[in-house]
Amino acid sequence: MKITELLNIKYPILQGAMAHISYAPLVSAVSNAGGLGIIASGGMTKDELKKEIIKCKNLTDQPFGVNLMLMEKNCDDLVKVILEEKVKIITTGAGSPERYLETFKKAEIIVIPVVSKLKHAIKMEKLGVDAIIVEGSEAGGHIGETSSMVLIPEISKHINIPIIAAGGICDENGLLASIALGASGIQMGTRFLASHECPAHINYKNAIINAKEDSTVVICKNTGTPVRCLKNNLTDKYFAIEKTPKSLEKFKKLTIGALKRAVQEGDTLNGSLMCGQIASNINEILSVNDIIQNIMNNYTKLLSKIK
Ligand SMILES: Cc1cc2nc3c(=O)[nH]c(=O)nc-3n(C[C@H](O)[C@H](O)[C@H](O)COP(=O)(O)O)c2cc1C
Repeated sequence: MKITELLNIKYPILQGAMAHISYAPLVSAVSNAGGLGIIASGGMTKDELKKEIIKCKNLTDQPFGVNLMLMEKNCDDLVKVILEEKVKIITTGAGSPERYLETFKKAEIIVIPVVSKLKHAIKMEKLGVDAIIVEGSEAGGHIGETSSMVLIPEISKHINIPIIAAGGICDENGLLASIALGASGIQMGTRFLASHECPAHINYKNAIINAKEDSTVVICKNTGTPVRCLKNNLTDKYFAIEKTPKSLEKFKKLTIGALKRAVQEGDTLNGSLMCGQIASNINEILSVNDIIQNIMNNYTKLLSKIK
């Protein structure tokens, strides 16, 4: 089944959930432009999530989703809100959604986990999820170890449910490449971060459009939760304390609240500027509608060129 039919959207483009960033203004703009906007519930209380869902319903009559980070302590409460508000599409990260699957199925909710390993993709298909987002290590935020170019064709050989490619995509080339590799749609995070509707601080957006291909690094590998972000004071300090005693405690102190610092205060030195390697291909802050329309118009041109 086509991802556009499954999700009842015009274009096969999902906005990746981004904690402290993908709130109603960005999410509704993506849905209104024909893609699928996704609220990031990570770090939210149940009341905050409820408010954001209601805001979204007021800003768009198009489908939108909610992302559930399964390691959050208040996950059960967030799921209650999702059910109360009759959200129809869920993406999940940081674990298996197995414990909620029966509840979601009963409520006719479409469930799409994010995976970065073949064995997890196979497990998810067996569990009966509707589609999967396959995220390569080029992506921004928390990542796996394998690049999209390798991961997507590998997983697409082994499973039959629709695949949405994520990690390293910002334009029509990425859309076409993803489809060639076996996906039926794309999810972008970093591209939508540099949009007018994104609530992140302008310093954060400017840092993305000024990034080069080697501007990102992966920190927190040794704590088991690798994160890709732009190089800055924070990442320099991280690598400096990596081999010193009590580094875990020091890491915690360094990274707690660091994404919020970047998003809300525009602290490009000591904030965590999470973003993907694709930032180097993004040179302009655009409206969400222009991002989506440019991709779809240029995709059609690209297709006619290669026929
Ligand atoms: C700042 C930031 C925050 C993110 N937060 C989340 C999150 O809360 N939940 C999630 O499943 N993925 C999260 N992601 C991953 C995105 O949803 C998306 O899969 C990823 O950005 C795709 O790769 P790209 O950045 O190359 O487009 C985040 C990514 C970024 C850049």
